[in-house]
Amino acid sequence: MNKTILLVIVIFLLVALTSCSDKAQATPTAVTIVYSGNLDGELEPCGCSEAGDLGGILRRASKLVELRKQQPELFLISSGSLLANASPRDRLKSEYILKGIAAMNYDAIGLQWRDLSYGVDFINITPLPWTVFNWKKNNIFPPQRNIRHGDVELAFFTWLEPENSPFRQMKGDHSPVQGNTDQLQKALQQAKQNRAVTVLTTSLTLDQATKLVALNPVDILVIKSAYEEYGKPVQQGKTLILQPGSRGMRLGRVDLKVDEKGNIVSWQHDIIPLPENIPDAPFLKAWYDEYNAKVKAAYLASVEQRKLQQSGQSPYTGSEACQSCHEKAYEIWSKSLHARAFERLEEVGKSFDPDCIVCHTVGFEQPGGYIDARLTMHLLNVQCESCHGAGKAHVDSQGKESTPNAAWQKEKICTQCHTQPHSPEFHFDSYWTRIAHE
Ligand code: HEC
Ligand code: HEC
Ligand code: HEC
Ligand code: HEC
Repeated sequence: MNKTILLVIVIFLLVALTSCSDKAQATPTAVTIVYSGNLDGELEPCGCSEAGDLGGILRRASKLVELRKQQPELFLISSGSLLANASPRDRLKSEYILKGIAAMNYDAIGLQWRDLSYGVDFINITPLPWTVFNWKKNNIFPPQRNIRHGDVELAFFTWLEPENSPFRQMKGDHSPVQGNTDQLQKALQQAKQNRAVTVLTTSLTLDQATKLVALNPVDILVIKSAYEEYGKPVQQGKTLILQPGSRGMRLGRVDLKVDEKGNIVSWQHDIIPLPENIPDAPFLKAWYDEYNAKVKAAYLASVEQRKLQQSGQSPYTGSEACQSCHEKAYEIWSKSLHARAFERLEEVGKSFDPDCIVCHTVGFEQPGGYIDARLTMHLLNVQCESCHGAGKAHVDSQGKESTPNAAWQKEKICTQCHTQPHSPEFHFDSYWTRIAHE
C-alpha cells in the first residue's frame, strides 16, 4: 500500500475517533439527588389523622433502600435542622433521630442553629456528615464536602447565617461562625472550575440568599424550608432553587442532566410522599424498640415521682361523677370516640409516651391529673373535664360553682388538642356537630 494512502487512512481514523469522543463528552450525564431538610424533631408521625400520617424515620429508611435499588449512584443530602428542643424529653428523641439518620448514609448534612440545641458534642457523638462553611474552628465541621458517585462530583456547602446565631446577644465575639462571604464565593468558583455540581444550603430566604453570594457558580441553592409541603423549584439564571418541606413528611428528588462542566442542562423535580403503606425499615427495628423502651423507662420513673408529689386531693373527678346530673351529655359523650381515645394509643403501642398521653387523657401533667392507667384509671381517655376543666368544685357545689372553662370560647376548648399537626382537617362547626351534647 502506498504510504500516502496509509497516512490518509490514519488521519481519517484519528479525526473520526476525536469527533466520536467529542460526541461522548457532549452527551449529558444523569444525576439524581434526593434531598430533605427541617425534620424538626419528627422522629415518627403521630398517626392522629390520615391527612397528617406522612413521614417518619422508619418509612424514610425503607423508601431510600428502594430508591437506591433503582439508582445506586444517587446523592442524598439534607439542609439540616433535624432536632427538636421544645420539651425536656426532646433530648432523648434527638439522640435517636441522629442514630436513625445515621443508618441512612446521608452524603452531606447542612448544620442549622437548631441542631446545636444540645451543643456541638451532643451531635458529634453520632457520626454524621455535618457541614458548615463558615464555622470558625475548621476541625469541628468540614467547610465543604466533595462527594463522588459514578462519574459525577458534587461539592456541598452550607452557610450558617450569623444573624440568627443564638450567641448574637452575648457580649464580646462568641459567635462560632464568621460572616465574611468572600471565601465562600471563591470556594464555589473553585468547585465549579473543578467541574463539580455545586450545592449551597442555607436557612435564608431566596431574597436573603441572593444577597449573600453571586449565584452563577451555584448549581443548586437550597433555601429556608417551607412548612410541611415542599416548595416548587424555580430556576434563576443557571441556578436551580429548591425548598424542602418540613417535619419529614416527604422527600424531594431532582433528576438532572449535567454537561461536562457540571452545569445543569435540564432538570425534573418530584416529591415523594411517605404514607402509611410504606413499610417500616426492618434494619431499624432494634433502634425503634430501644427508643420506645427508653421513653417508657423515663415515663415510669416520672410516675413514681408524681405519685410522691400528688398525695393530696385532686381537683378532677372523672366523668362518672357527672353522669347523675347530666345524663344526656354523658350518654352522647360515652358513645363518642373521645371516650375511647386511650385505646387508640394502646393499639399503636404508645400508651407510655408522654408526647401522646397528653391529649388522650385528662389533665396529664396538671396537678391531680392523669398519672398512669393503674393509679388514675378514672382519668383515661378524653372526658368531660378535658374540655370543661377540673370539675370537683362544680360537683361538690351541686353545680352552683361553674366549671373552670365556662367562659372560654368553644373553639379554644378544642384547639388544646385539635392542633394543626394532630388534626389538620379540624373545623369547629363540622367537628362540633359530631359531638354536640348541649
Ligand atoms: C396535641 C394533641 C395530641 C397529641 C400530642 C397526640 N394526639 Fe393523637 N389525636 C389527637 C386528636 C385531636 C385526634 C383526632 C384527630 C381528628 O380526628 O381530627 C387524635 C387521634 C389519634 C388517633 C386515631 C387516629 C384514627 O385514625 O382513628 C391515634 C391512633 C393517635 N391519635 C395516636 C397518637 C400518638 C401515637 C401520639 C403520640 C406520638 C399522639 N396521638 C399524640 C390529638 C393528639
Ligand atoms: C370535647 C370537649 C367536650 C367534652 C368531652 C364534653 N363537653 Fe360538654 N361541652 C363542650 C362544649 C364546647 C360545650 C358548649 C359550650 C357553650 O355552648 O358555650 C359543651 C356544653 C356542655 C353543657 C351545656 C352547657 C350550657 O351552657 O348549656 C353541659 C351541661 C356539658 N357540656 C356537660 C358535659 C359533660 C357532663 C360531659 C362529659 C360526660 C361533657 N360535657 C363532655 C365540650 C365538651
Ligand atoms: C349534682 C349535680 C351536678 C353534677 C354532679 C354535675 N353538674 Fe354540671 N351542672 C349542674 C347544674 C345544676 C348546672 C347548672 C345548670 C344550669 O344553670 O342550667 C350545671 C352546669 C354545668 C355546665 C354549664 C355551666 C358551666 O358551669 O360551665 C357544665 C359545662 C357542666 N355542668 C359540666 C359538668 C361536669 C363536667 C360535671 C362532672 C365533672 C358536672 N357538670 C357534674 C349540676 C351538676
Ligand atoms: C384533651 C384533648 C381533646 C380536646 C380538648 C378535644 N378533643 Fe376531639 N379528639 C381528641 C382525640 C384524642 C380524638 C381521637 C379519638 C379517637 O379516635 O379515638 C378526638 C376526636 C374527635 C372527633 C372525632 C371522633 C368522633 O367521635 O367523631 C371529633 C368530632 C372531635 N374530636 C371533636 C372535638 C371538638 C368539637 C372539641 C372541642 C369542643 C374537641 N374535640 C376537643 C382529643 C381532644
